[in-house]
Amino acid sequence: MVVWLEGDLGAGKTTLVRGLLRAAGVTGSVRSPTYTLVEVHPVSGLDFYHFDFYRFNQPEDFLDAGLDEYFQGRGICLVEWPDKAVPYLPGADLHLGLRLAKNDSRELECRATSERGRACLIALNAAGCSSSLPPA
Ligand SMILES: Nc1ncnc2c1ncn2[C@@H]1O[C@H](COP(=O)(O)OP(=O)(O)OP(=O)(O)O)[C@@H](O)[C@H]1O
Ligand SMILES: [Mg+2]
Repeated sequence: MVVWLEGDLGAGKTTLVRGLLRAAGVTGSVRSPTYTLVEVHPVSGLDFYHFDFYRFNQPEDFLDAGLDEYFQGRGICLVEWPDKAVPYLPGADLHLGLRLAKNDSRELECRATSERGRACLIALNAAGCSSSLPPA
């Protein structure tokens, strides 16, 4: 599963990942991967890989760092600043777009771009998240 987290500097991408990992059962600190490029969180029988490509100077940095291997396994890849690694970054199942809204709140737009991503949005909806589903 590949999730692209989109939004400007400070939009809340890391904070959203932190919340997601906490909900999945991570109890330790969840650091931003700004300097390490990837932070690994094994939890609940899953491997979450949290990336931040903000510091890439060119998309080829993705290949040079050998990060493509992470995307071939069974883990869940959560990617901040995915645009910086296009065209080498594998495509997303889910796009999560964040933007600043009134009173320092945030708006989140979820868009599925695969069957797997769509199944995820359907599950979120069933769990009571208010959202509108994309057309089938
Ligand atoms: N949903 C939210 N409601 C209120 N404040 C938030 C929310 N999400 C994030 N923030 C605040 O916004 C600031 C930036 O958040 P965060 O570091 O998650 O952004 P980011 O999108 O990961 O930024 P970057 O592009 O630099 O990685 C933090 O101070 C955080 O506490
Ligand atoms: Mg961040």
